[in-house]
Amino acid sequence: MMHIQTLILGAGAAGMMAAAHSGPGVVIIDHAKAAGEKIRISGGGRCNFTNIGTTPAQFISQNRHFAKSALKRYTQWDFINLVSDYKIAWHEKTLGQLFCDDTAKDVVAMLRAEMDKAGAQLMLNTSISDIAHDGTHFIATLTRDGTETAVTATNLIVATGGKSIPKMGATGLAYQIAAQFDVDVITPRPGLVPLTFSDDRFKLLAGVATPSNVTTNDTTFSEALLFTHRGLSGPAILQASSYWTEGDAITVNLIPTADLYDKLRSARTTSPKKALTTIMSQHLPARLIDYIKDEFALHGNIADHSDVRLQAICADLASWDLLPSGSEGYRTAEVTLGGVNTDALSSKTMGVKSVPGLYFIGEAVDVTGWLGGYNFQWAWSSGWAAGQAI
Ligand code: FDA
Repeated sequence: MMHIQTLILGAGAAGMMAAAHSGPGVVIIDHAKAAGEKIRISGGGRCNFTNIGTTPAQFISQNRHFAKSALKRYTQWDFINLVSDYKIAWHEKTLGQLFCDDTAKDVVAMLRAEMDKAGAQLMLNTSISDIAHDGTHFIATLTRDGTETAVTATNLIVATGGKSIPKMGATGLAYQIAAQFDVDVITPRPGLVPLTFSDDRFKLLAGVATPSNVTTNDTTFSEALLFTHRGLSGPAILQASSYWTEGDAITVNLIPTADLYDKLRSARTTSPKKALTTIMSQHLPARLIDYIKDEFALHGNIADHSDVRLQAICADLASWDLLPSGSEGYRTAEVTLGGVNTDALSSKTMGVKSVPGLYFIGEAVDVTGWLGGYNFQWAWSSGWAAGQAI
């Protein structure tokens, strides 16, 4: 029998952060063969580890106030200082997104070093079963290489993430533990995920990217849109997908910079004999214009089109309504929306109000960030908050 102070389930971003801040007597387990695997592959191998502009406004939750406390107490600047202390070089790519100059492995190594400094014991290739609570302690069985060890712990921090990318070890264990302890779970669903269409309508456009505004359920994102074999992707769609549920339409504005009308009018004066599609291909991808020319009636020479007609074309391009049939699902979703209902948790400690010593952190909780480093910031902030409480 192993007696410890704190057992942490999941050595991902949130679990490692908590392990580094939970004081002595910490064991952190993971069924994977390495810690921080999502960190390692994130941001194309360079890890978009936070966002300079992080505020609670970039997080989705049934309780939009819940994330405020943790984000305020452990901020993006705290994590930037930590990264800088470890002399990990970083740069801002776009929209406040910070990436490692070199490799995401530096962030994993930094967290491993912080855990070592705190004396936390990491057990990989380890699974957990038979979790119970005897009123004072959590009791469980850990299994590694076929050997079972019974463990008792005063605190149990659940940091096993959501359901996204099962191939990387996502299991939904957090939801099972929540159910066992009568903690409500908001139905999980894939977020930051490409949207699909049941027909092959965009197959011919696969690989074409264009600036856009994408709106769904009154929320608009201005970023790139990417056509794929199965539908739509790119940052604008990934962001919108977190606000989209099956049956909802999306509206795509293909001319977000809004001066196309003026450009078409002036082309009508300077090059009246040019085809409308030729002129438009100077401002939008030619393959896209070729694809939409029938749907938007982009026929004839530019000189054939009155101001009213040009205005109508621009209006159509600015409000292209589409009805996705689904999403690529957990197979490729970067995050899981929903999760442990924040009503059950203290926003200061991430502790379950009705079960002293039980904590949920990171993606397992019903707090989901936008694309752009916000989800790691939530993992750092919530992991730190739980660690401080122990
Ligand atoms: P995380 O999923 O990181 O960790 C959970 C851990 O629990 C894993 O190590 C898993 O093996 C373990 N586990 C699960 N079930 C278990 C079980 N039954 N027994 C034992 N262990 C178990 N975010 C961002 O801010 N910037 C970015 O650049 C990216 N990029 C990115 C790329 C890709 C491809 C994905 C899939 C995701 C991102 N994200 C991201 C999102 C980010 O990775 C995610 O929000 C955090 O990793 C969540 O941290 P957690 O620690 O909560 O879960």
